[in-house]
Amino acid sequence: MPTFTAVQLKQSGQEVFQAAGASPEEARIVADSLVEANLAGHDSHGVMRIPEYVEAMEKGLVVLGAKLQIVLESESFAVLDGGWGFGQVMGQQAMAIAIDKAARVGVATIFARNCCHIGRVGEYPEIAAARGMACVMFVNAHGAGKLVAPWGGLDRRLSANPIAIGVPLASGGPIIVDISTCAIAEGKLRNMMTAGAAVPPGSIVDAEGKPSTIAADFYGPPPGALLPFGGHKGFALGLAADLLSGGLSGAGCSRPDGERLGNSFTAVVIDVARVRGAEAFEQEARKLVEYVKSSRRAPGVEEILVPGEPEKRERERRSREGIAVHAATWQRIVDTAQRHGLKLQVQ
Ligand SMILES: NC(=O)c1ccc[n+]([C@@H]2O[C@H](COP(=O)([O-])OP(=O)(O)OC[C@H]3O[C@@H](n4cnc5c(N)ncnc54)[C@H](O)[C@@H]3O)[C@@H](O)[C@H]2O)c1
Repeated sequence: MPTFTAVQLKQSGQEVFQAAGASPEEARIVADSLVEANLAGHDSHGVMRIPEYVEAMEKGLVVLGAKLQIVLESESFAVLDGGWGFGQVMGQQAMAIAIDKAARVGVATIFARNCCHIGRVGEYPEIAAARGMACVMFVNAHGAGKLVAPWGGLDRRLSANPIAIGVPLASGGPIIVDISTCAIAEGKLRNMMTAGAAVPPGSIVDAEGKPSTIAADFYGPPPGALLPFGGHKGFALGLAADLLSGGLSGAGCSRPDGERLGNSFTAVVIDVARVRGAEAFEQEARKLVEYVKSSRRAPGVEEILVPGEPEKRERERRSREGIAVHAATWQRIVDTAQRHGLKLQVQ
C-alpha cells in the first residue's frame, strides 16, 4: 500500500478540493480534518472521502463559501443553519459558538442543520476538551442515509447516528468516546469490501435478513442492513441521537423520503471550571481512570485503555510511520484530481 506523511496527504487533499472549486480556507479545513481522522486510525472518515466530497461538489450539493447562520438564540443555546456548506467548516464554527456561550453561562447547547458530512465526530468534542470543556454530541444524517435496522427488525430505518463525548483530562489527554450506534461504521464496511476482508459476525444482515460476513451483502442489490451495536441498547441510543439531532435542529429524523444526505447535530458543551472547578474535576477524573486501569486483565489483553487512548496512540504511530492508503483508494483520489485538471505531486 502506498504510504504518505500527514503533511503530504493534507497538501494533496487541499489541492484537490481547491481544483474542484473550494476556497483555500475551506479546502484546508476539510483536508486537514480528513487526514486527522486517518491519523487517529479512522480511515473510514479519512482521505477515502475526498472523491465522495468532490462528487458532491460537482453535483452542486456543497454550497461553496456558505456562512453559518444563527436562526434562533438565547444566552445558552443556538439553532444554526449551515446553508449546506462543508460539514467540517460548519462543525468547527458551530463549536466556536457553543464554547463561547458555555464560557459565559456555564452550559450551552447548539442545534445545527443543513451541514454536509462533518466527518469524524470525535473531532468536535476534542475542540471543546482542548478548551477545558466537556461535550456530548448527537448526530444524524439529516433524515437520509438510512443504513441500520431497528432492534428486532431487518429493514434499514436509521442512519449510523453517531454519539461523541469529550471529557477534558490534562493528565493523559481527554477522554473521547466516538461511536456510531451501529455495529460497525459504514465507511469501515466500504474498506472491508475494497480489501476483500470478512465483516465481523453480528454486524450485518443480507437482503433476506440472514446474518452475513460479506460486505457486498450489505450493499446489494438488493441491499441488506447494518445492525445496531449491543442489541437493544445501541438501537435505543441511535433512536435518541436521531431525535435529539434531527428532531431538535429542524433537519428532521430518519424518514422514508429523507432526500438529502448530510449531518445535523446537537452538542451540549459544559464549562467544567465553572460547574465543578477544573482542578477538582481533574482529580476526580484521574482517580477514576487509575481505578479502572487497576482491574485484572482478561486473557490476551495487554492493557486496559480508556476511550480516546487508542486514537492518541495511533496518532503517535502514524505520525512517525506514515499513513498507508489502499492502492484502489489512492487511485480514486488521483482520478478525481485528474478530472479537475490536477496532477498530484505526491504519487
Ligand atoms: N459523520 C457521520 O455521519 C458519522 C457516522 C458514523 C460514524 N462516524 C465516525 O466513524 C468513526 C468510527 O466509528 P465506529 O463506530 O466504527 O467507532 P469504533 O467502533 O472504532 O469505536 C471508537 C471508540 O471506541 C474507543 N475504543 C476503541 N477501542 C477501545 C479500547 N480497547 N478501550 C477503550 N476504548 C476503546 C475509541 O477511543 C473511540 O472512542 C467515528 O469517528 C465516528 O465519528 C461518523
